[in-house]
Amino acid sequence: MTASSPTPLRAALLGLGMMGRHHARILQSLAGVELVGAVDPAGDRHGAVRDPALVHPTLDALLAANPVLDLAIVALPTEEHLPVALALAEAGVHMLIEKPLAASVAEGDEIIAACARAGVRAAVGHVERFNPALLALRERLSEGLLGDVFLVATERVGPFPERVRDVGVVKDLATHDLDIVAWIGDAPISSVAAQTSHRTGRPHEDLVLVTGRLASGVPFNSVVDWLTPTKSRRTRVLGDRGMLVAETVTADLTFYENGRVTSAWDSSQALRGVSEGNATRYALARAEPLRAELEAFRDLVAGDDAAPVVTLAQGLAALRSAEAVLASAAGGETVRIAR
Ligand SMILES: NC(=O)c1ccc[n+]([C@@H]2O[C@H](COP(=O)([O-])OP(=O)(O)OC[C@H]3O[C@@H](n4cnc5c(N)ncnc54)[C@H](O)[C@@H]3O)[C@@H](O)[C@H]2O)c1
Repeated sequence: MTASSPTPLRAALLGLGMMGRHHARILQSLAGVELVGAVDPAGDRHGAVRDPALVHPTLDALLAANPVLDLAIVALPTEEHLPVALALAEAGVHMLIEKPLAASVAEGDEIIAACARAGVRAAVGHVERFNPALLALRERLSEGLLGDVFLVATERVGPFPERVRDVGVVKDLATHDLDIVAWIGDAPISSVAAQTSHRTGRPHEDLVLVTGRLASGVPFNSVVDWLTPTKSRRTRVLGDRGMLVAETVTADLTFYENGRVTSAWDSSQALRGVSEGNATRYALARAEPLRAELEAFRDLVAGDDAAPVVTLAQGLAALRSAEAVLASAAGGETVRIAR
């Protein structure tokens, strides 16, 4: 089956919250896909599903009404991912699970084993990998624009989203960064050292600072919090020839070129340094990342093994890095990550 084939894939959506409503909007206009049902015990509070008759209170009710389902999107609170993913695998339904893959590495392992046993195709919703600014940044790096890479740095800060109760900022938000640095740096994370804070009185951490290293030797750092009044999502890569900065909220990519050092310093101060050169802001086609993610998943379900989805193994790697970050913050030591 391809996107243009006459029989659309029968899709279900689990969770009609903040994220689910965006999935609903796109699923209802995605070529090759028909939204045939949705589940949310709280109903469709955002009015996201055009036909209210498609909304069910439980997964069992959805499966009873739809004996044939091709795919499901899991947009539930993180702690609900495991039981629902196991039930979908049992029912033979291919699934896209929102990030983070699960609440723990152990649960992520269970999901992976269940999908493998059932032979269902699955992917994780690390939507930043579909952001035009990060895709363009990665392409420029592979073309060698920066020369040697010295540092990958990310910042993901903003106000607290009231909805998140089950996990802290490390698993909810920093999993984006831990995935991005490994993807952009093209090497797994090999070690992390982290600090966390709890400032808002909730059971989990709301700020994390991570420094670490990729297996390639490139260092990285990430600053992630729910305490900042303004929202910023920024990835900065520093290299031999300058710096690339991707702003993923606006999908902008800028190259800051190193200038020539024409220092008037005398030879005793002859340190090798850089100066500011030209800056180039690239004009990018701004395709919606979530739509690109769902198109890739649709193609995977339709049989395209090369569809550019984020795999369960990649989702698990981000989760394993997140657990190492929490262990480092708790123990005050650098934690090595065995892959
Ligand atoms: N990719 C991203 O950038 C991104 C952004 C935000 C959230 N997320 C992820 O999406 C998931 C959902 O987050 P959200 O912000 O939409 O949360 P949310 O709380 O707004 O929505 C979750 C919805 O799931 C429903 N629900 C709870 N248990 C259920 C069950 N067993 N079956 C069906 N529905 C159930 C709730 O009633 C609620 O409406 C989380 O895993 C989160 O990490 C991803």
